[in-house]
Amino acid sequence: MTFIKLFNRAMGVLSLALMLGSTPGQAAEPPFGGPGSIAFAKTLWTALENANWVGKEQIRSKPYLGTEPHGFVLESLDGQLEVSGRTGWVVVKRNYGPKGVKIDAVEANRSKHLAAITVMFKREKGYDPDNQDWFWAKYKADGSIDKDPKGANLVGRVAKGMDAGCIACHKGAPGGDMVFVFDPKK
Ligand code: HEC
Repeated sequence: MTFIKLFNRAMGVLSLALMLGSTPGQAAEPPFGGPGSIAFAKTLWTALENANWVGKEQIRSKPYLGTEPHGFVLESLDGQLEVSGRTGWVVVKRNYGPKGVKIDAVEANRSKHLAAITVMFKREKGYDPDNQDWFWAKYKADGSIDKDPKGANLVGRVAKGMDAGCIACHKGAPGGDMVFVFDPKK
């Protein structure tokens, strides 16, 4: 076999490997904001709604004063949630505004003041071993997925490897579990 023939064969194997590595016409799933993350975030929202973690019939807790980036009055809850047949630890934070809003005003009319809902859901082992397998999501008050200023959907491993964002900031939470207000539950 001549060198050229060998070379052509090698290139053939290489391009086949490249084709198999990614679905044709579709880029590999990025750490966050991609189609897989969006689909999971939608399933997660429906599960939260069905269990009354969000929505009109939502379970209530005592709101407290918070700071940016989460909002000015906050309400956080944690517990277990079943998503697609698997139960995991979930932490839900409701973020109320606008700036300067008082706790009394929020308690009197939560839906009027709801600005965003941030959620952490513990995924299956191996989802993101560097970051405790957390799935991160930021939703608008109506349940649609929120975006960062560059238009990236804030769902998935947000924003893995970057200097700012959910993961970068939550790495500083006490106890190494990436959660600030609650104690670890598996
Ligand atoms: C600049 C830092 C920072 C960023 C960025 C950040 N958080 Fe937080 N987050 C906090 C702090 C501090 C708390 C605890 C105090 C509080 O209740 O606000 C918190 C609390 C939470 C909680 C309640 C559970 C807990 O850890 O106490 C959730 C859920 C949450 N954040 C989700 C998110 C999501 C999702 C994102 C990204 C879209 C995000 N956070 C981005 C600092 C941050």
